[in-house]
Parts: sequence; structure tokens; C-alpha cells
Amino acid sequence: MADTNPLNNCRLAFIGCGVMAEAIIAGLLRRKLVAPEHISGSHPRQARREEMHVKYGVEMFESNREAVTAAQPEEPNDSSVIVLAVKPQRLHGVLEELKGALVKEQLVVSIVAGAKIETIAEQLLHASVVRTMPNTPAQIGEGVTAWTASSEVTEKQESQVCALLEALGKTVRVENERQIDMATALSATGPTYIFLVMEALIDAGVHMGFSRHVAQDLVHQMMLGAVLFARESHKHPAELRNMVTSPGGTSAEAIYQMEKGSLRTVLSKAVWAAYQRAESLGKI
Ligand SMILES: NC(=O)c1ccc[n+]([C@@H]2O[C@H](COP(=O)([O-])OP(=O)(O)OC[C@H]3O[C@@H](n4cnc5c(N)ncnc54)[C@H](OP(=O)(O)O)[C@@H]3O)[C@@H](O)[C@H]2O)c1
Repeated sequence: MADTNPLNNCRLAFIGCGVMAEAIIAGLLRRKLVAPEHISGSHPRQARREEMHVKYGVEMFESNREAVTAAQPEEPNDSSVIVLAVKPQRLHGVLEELKGALVKEQLVVSIVAGAKIETIAEQLLHASVVRTMPNTPAQIGEGVTAWTASSEVTEKQESQVCALLEALGKTVRVENERQIDMATALSATGPTYIFLVMEALIDAGVHMGFSRHVAQDLVHQMMLGAVLFARESHKHPAELRNMVTSPGGTSAEAIYQMEKGSLRTVLSKAVWAAYQRAESLGKI
């Protein structure tokens, strides 16, 4: 493996090997950033432990503590990352179990929605913590993950976090946890807004008389193409829209109806409401 790989000599432990942990493990192995023998994982169900071991060759434990211990650095140059990937309601019990099990050099990366860095650090008695907010397209490596780190996290660990999260798609480092709540409302909750728009457009196609699968094919590719075009052209969305809005044409007619129905305001209000909800859930 190349020396430029920040995960060289890094041992990883995944606490809770569900959908997201598997997406990261599969991505790391596919890109040969980590060898399977440097990865350990934990899961309460034996069938899932066997499945992960057979599929990826990683060592699996029933005990979360043992998975962490297996990932401890052995040589002075080794590093170690512990990924917390359980559902939010399981986190408290997991942190209780792991309290005092980590050595100072280990980095904790949490992908658990809503869990604050301070809470994790206090319960684990451990200072180096990174909090992330992925989204569902991460499951196919096309996600975007916002992340932020406690002040104790080193530069080397930060580059390890980037390499790790790139297994899920793109990464964006944000300044603080308030911005994690903002990313929760925009990019993490975002796919649900798009799915709703997608569904409405498919239904509109069916309303005009298309069969559902034709409407679905047209809408899927149209949305994908529009996003790629916007990204590659580097043009403001309004400019792209104006380019196809001829006087008295179909776009002008449709946009008039969308503005009349306050689509822009509804979206803005939805994102703001999700942000406030993320903030209040974080306080519980
Ligand atoms: N999925 C996404 O797209 C997404 C997006 C953003 C954030 N996240 C966050 O990512 C985290 C993981 O999500 P996920 O979708 O991967 O969930 P998941 O598939 O449910 O994975 C969590 C796994 O942890 C296992 N588990 C339960 N109790 C445990 C314990 N005490 N110790 C160790 N493992 C335990 C669960 O087993 P059982 O199934 O047997 O209960 C499950 O397989 C969540 O906190 C979520 O908020 C996910």
C-alpha cells in the first residue's frame, strides 16, 4: 500500500456492524486502503458476525470492548480508529460498556445521529472524538458526510477521517457542531426532500398517461442529468433555468405555477424546521 495512504498501519474497530459500518468497510477494502486483518467489528447477533467475517474477512466479536481492544495500536507507528455505528438509542449502553477501554492514541469517530462530541467524550473518558453526519446515498458510496472534530484530534487523525469517510462519498469539514445540525437539515435529511419531489413528478407523469415505469425512468434520468449538468457547467441554477425558459414557453408556464404555489418558500421553511428539530433533539 502506498505511503500516502493515511490509513497505513491503522487498525479499525466498528462498533455495531449494520448498514453504514458495512458500507465503510466495503469501501475501504475495495480501495485497498486497509487490509481485512486490520479491521475488527462487533455485533450482538452471531449470524451477522459470521456474515461479516465470511464476506470481508474481518475479525468479529460479540463484545464491543473486545473489538476495541483488538484494534489497539501494537507498534509506536500504529494508529487506531474506533467507529461508533450503532443506532442513537443504543449509544448510551455502548458508551457505558466502552468506558475506560480506549487508550489515549485511539480516535473515536461517531456516525451516530444527534450524539454530541461532549457527551461521547465524557461518557468514554476520552478526548479525541470526531462527529460526522452522513446521508443515505452513502450506502452506495454516493453520499456526502459533514464532520467536525474535538480540539484534541491531530492533523494525521483528520486525514485518516477523510480517507475513512470517503468510502461513503464526498466529505465536507464543518467548523462546529451547530453546522453539523445545519448539515443534518440540508444534506442528511435532504434525500427525503428529493424523494418527495421525485415521487410527485412520477405521479404527474402517470396523471398525464405514462405508465409508472416509463414515468419513473424519465424522472430518474432527468434528475440525475440535471444534477450532473449543474455540477459540470459551474453555472448558477437560475442561469441554467433561464437558458431553457423561452418567452411564453412550457418552462415559463410551469415555473409560474411553482412560484404561485410558494415552492421556494416551502423548501426554505422545511429546511429551517428540520434544523430546529435537529437542534432540539441534540438537547435531549
Ligand atoms: N443509514 C444511513 O443512511 C444513515 C445516515 C446518517 C446517519 N446514520 C447513523 O448511522 C448509525 C448507524 O446506522 P445504520 O443505518 O448502519 O444502522 P443499523 O443498520 O441498524 O446498524 C446498527 C447495528 O448495530 C447493531 N447493534 C445493536 N445493539 C448493539 C450493541 N449494543 N452493540 C453493538 N452493535 C449493536 C444492530 O443490530 P440489530 O440489527 O440486531 O439491532 C445493527 O446491526 C445510526 O446512528 C444512524 O443515525 C445512518
